[in-house]
Formats: sequence, C-alpha cells, structure tokens
Amino acid sequence: MSHPIERPRRLRKSPSIRNLVREVDLAPEHLILPLFVTWGKNRKEPISSMPNVFRYSTDLLPDILDEAWNAGVRTVLLFGIPEIKDDSGSEALNPDGPVPLAIGAIRTHNPGFVIMTDVCIDEYTTHGHCGLVCGDTIQNDPTLDILANMALLHAQAGADIVAPSDMMDGRVLAIRHMLDQNAFTDTLILSYAVKYASALYGPFRDAMMSGPQFGDRSSYQMDFRGIKDAMREARLDAEEGADILMVKPAQAYLDIIVRVSGMTDLPVAAYQVSGEYSMIVAAGQNGWIDQDRVVIETLTAIRRAGAQMIVTYFAVEAAKILSRRP
Ligand code: PBG
Repeated sequence: MSHPIERPRRLRKSPSIRNLVREVDLAPEHLILPLFVTWGKNRKEPISSMPNVFRYSTDLLPDILDEAWNAGVRTVLLFGIPEIKDDSGSEALNPDGPVPLAIGAIRTHNPGFVIMTDVCIDEYTTHGHCGLVCGDTIQNDPTLDILANMALLHAQAGADIVAPSDMMDGRVLAIRHMLDQNAFTDTLILSYAVKYASALYGPFRDAMMSGPQFGDRSSYQMDFRGIKDAMREARLDAEEGADILMVKPAQAYLDIIVRVSGMTDLPVAAYQVSGEYSMIVAAGQNGWIDQDRVVIETLTAIRRAGAQMIVTYFAVEAAKILSRRP
C-alpha cells in the first residue's frame, strides 16, 4: 500500500492552522459603498431590482453614513440623480446639485470619510448616454470639457477622489489638467480604466433611470471578448495621470483584474456591479445559496485576483459579517 508523499490536508487541519497559512484578507476598509443621492428632502426611494439599496436625499444620509462608519467602512462613492435632465446634462455642473450638496453634508457630518464621486453625464442626460450626442453618434472631444468641469466642481465641493466612468478617450488627461490648473493637485483620480459593456449594469440603470434611450454603450465601453483593449486602456489612463485603476465588472472579469494588477504599479480597484449584487441577493432570498458566505467568498476572490479595494453594494453588510467572524 503506497502512501501519498505530499499531504496538503495537513495545512487544513484546524481553523488556527488555516488562518496561519491564509494568504488573502478581506477587511471593511477595503470596501467602498456606492450611494445614490438625489434632490429634495426626506426622500428614501427603493430600487425594485436592487433590494435594500435606496436613493437618498442628502438630509437622510447621516443614518446610512453612521451605519457604514460603525461597521468600519471608510469610503463612499457618490452618484447623483438630478431633478431635471436635458440633452447636454447641464445639471452635472450645478454647484447646488445632489453630489456637491452631498459632499458638503458628508463632510459636516463626519469629516473622516474618504469621498469619491462618479464623473459621468449619463445620469444627467435625457438620452442616457455617457457623452454628448450628435445624430446617433456619441461625441468624444466635446464631452471632455464637461467631464473636466464636473470633476473640478466635485473637487471644489470637497471630494477626495474623482472617478470618471464615461470611457471617453483622453478624459483622465483633461481632468488632470483641469485639476492642476485650479490648484487641486492633491485630488486623486480613480479611473474606470477597464470598463466593459456589460449586461450586468441593468439594475443600476433602474436605480439611476439612466438607460440609454437609443442604441447601447458598445461604441465607448469595451467589448467583453477582448483582453488587449483592457491592457491599452489601463496603460493610457496611468500615463494620463490616474492614481488608481479600476476594472468593472468584477466577478466575470477576475482574469482581467489579475492581468491589470500585474502590469501596473498603481493600486487596482474592482467594481462588483449592480447585476452581481442582485443575482446574489435573489438567490439568497430564495434560500438557494447562503448569502453571507457567498458575499464574503466573492469579495475575497476579487481581492485574491489582485484588487486592493472593491466598490460593492454589500459594503456595509460584508463589513458587519466580517466583524461577527474574526
Ligand atoms: C455610468 C456608470 C454605470 C455604472 C457605474 N457608472 C452604468 C453604465 O455604464 O451603464 C454601473 C454600476 C453598476 O452596475 O453597479 N455612469
């Protein structure tokens, strides 16, 4: 009778030994909580395709902020839903819009938060595209000005990090120039460098009421059949002055996270997007999976692939699960 020469099971013998050899950690400070902020007062609106996620008016932010802070979450990512949309997304540049107001409210309530803002006009335009539209084409260069001004507005309001998610060519450079010219040399840029055109954004578009009214986003977001395009986008955004590179979505793109983190010396972020959230919640609500365990397993896998930080609608929930299980 021959015996195995190697016995990997020895390293799995007890919880303490497993913890001793554990390679990847997940902690609340790795998690970034997206917040949908809207106009008006006393508004907390549910989103049907995203159970437990709400749109908040700025006066209602303190409760969710306290809950997040107490769970150990230190970073939020703000998305604005304006009262009025138009062709050019002009509300994106309103200093009294939901995002600048929310930045002020968060700073006043708890100056400890790292405040990150989404920079993109799709939530502000009637056509729902991330760039200005002429006929049926999405215009790159005219959009850059708006994005740079939007980033400046957020920086002036007190954002620590601006996060362009539009996928226009050259926007990181345009934003970096604008920030530098206005002495915001310390404002970080987290670029959605590698953003695939994904069906997993569906529930988010319900949340923001931002689905494109014609066509789709495949002339600016990336084709999911490609790898080289991801390497190119990541390299360009780093050259243009990004501080952090993000890959999005996460779960179906772990191979891309591995590659991007291998080719850059910048920190890498990943976005566990709305569809990833809703699929886990739906299966959890049906009792088909153990939601808490799947949340921790998927987030840890994203860390294992090489992301330092993760944007996730599970941020507060995951932080609470982690604090219950040392
Ligand atoms: C665009 C933007 C989108 C998301 C983040 N920023 C939507 C899109 O590109 O259609 C998706 C986030 C998610 O699905 O959770 N401003």
